Amino acid sequence: MEQIKEILKNILEEKKLIKMVFGSARKKTIPYHKIIIRPIIIKDQFYYQVEYHYKDKVIHENLNPEDLILLCCDFMIMDFKQLNIYAINEDIQILAANPNDPKVLKSKPSKKKVDLSHNKKKQYIIPDNEPCDFLIRLGVSDYNGKVFQKHYSKFRQINKFLEIVDDSFESLDTSKTIKVIDFGCGKAYLTFALYHYLRIIKGLDVEIIGLDLKEDVIEFCNKIAQELEFDKLKFLIGNIKDYASDQADMVVTLHACDTATDFALINAVKWKSQIILSVPCCQHELFNQIKETLHAPLFKHGILKDRFTEILTDGIRGLKLEAAGYDVKMIEFTTLEHTSKNIMIKAVKSKPVATSSETEKDVKETAARKNKALKANEEYEALKKYWHINPTIDSL
Ligand SMILES: C[S@@+](CC[C@H](N)C(=O)[O-])C[C@H]1O[C@@H](n2cnc3c(N)ncnc32)[C@H](O)[C@@H]1O
Repeated sequence: MEQIKEILKNILEEKKLIKMVFGSARKKTIPYHKIIIRPIIIKDQFYYQVEYHYKDKVIHENLNPEDLILLCCDFMIMDFKQLNIYAINEDIQILAANPNDPKVLKSKPSKKKVDLSHNKKKQYIIPDNEPCDFLIRLGVSDYNGKVFQKHYSKFRQINKFLEIVDDSFESLDTSKTIKVIDFGCGKAYLTFALYHYLRIIKGLDVEIIGLDLKEDVIEFCNKIAQELEFDKLKFLIGNIKDYASDQADMVVTLHACDTATDFALINAVKWKSQIILSVPCCQHELFNQIKETLHAPLFKHGILKDRFTEILTDGIRGLKLEAAGYDVKMIEFTTLEHTSKNIMIKAVKSKPVATSSETEKDVKETAARKNKALKANEEYEALKKYWHINPTIDSL
């Protein structure tokens, strides 16, 4: 335990902490499943804020460094087996199944220091009022980094997207080149943002491709990528449906219309992409397919049938991805104020268990995953039969 205490003392007393996260609970009876600690300043006083994550609530407590070190030691002994520390100079992972003999892994810092004021304005990954080359070049901000009022919702959308990427990030293998494809990239605000985030902020080895049908848009995007010297970002003309050139670790498809989303998802699953981020739109395919008598009186109103079709389309896409071994979440992408097309399908591939070191727990997890996938497929088939539909995603 002394080794952990020394690390904490060094980081906390020297005020090097950006964030730390306790996870992997020792017992099921521990009421909270995660604890996050960050430095904050309240009325000019420096504190550490402890955030307790319970099943359905989050509670905060502000402590000074001395009290916090003792509390952290208690957390490690009693409650958690793992601690991830993000400091300004390094990342440290402590694996402490036995707190007296912990495994300590150190790596380069992955997080940037942030503004510490307590009631601060929302801190974006790409902040307002700080010059950012691609935002300037795309006309979202001026040369001083001030975001133009009319582009503020785009700016928020970019940051929200990067927060989602940041959240899913752990499941990528960052020891090799990360390949990303943005299907239906359009003017590519989000493709440029992704490059900026992965390559410039995170310093990762990436290759990003933006694909779109429109020649003029692709020419425009390639020109900007060259001007910005984003040398690992390329834009190609092509149809998602026919794209067969390369595999990708992450597939992004934002607002690609109707079945274009399905072709993007089909490609991603075929490549076993680790992360899929998809915001579908114009889900028209099933509108003329659904047949069912009970709901017919509701569907005489086109707008209700349209909304229902959207939900059914995305719901069955989610099930198909689950059936293919993905953990699927439907999340709000932007607030409705920006666009009504705001549901994101976030699918992350469950990591396979290395067969040579398989434990009893791994075997159980693999079996649970298989059952989940089988159940999702049954649910998918039942819905298909009930609504008499034949969706494009079926060919997955
Ligand atoms: C609404 S825009 C979205 C642009 C960008 N992804 C965003 O969210 O800001 C949709 C883009 O998808 C492209 N698109 C639609 N179907 C496509 C397909 N089958 N193959 C490639 N691109 C497609 C369109 O040309 C258009 O630029």
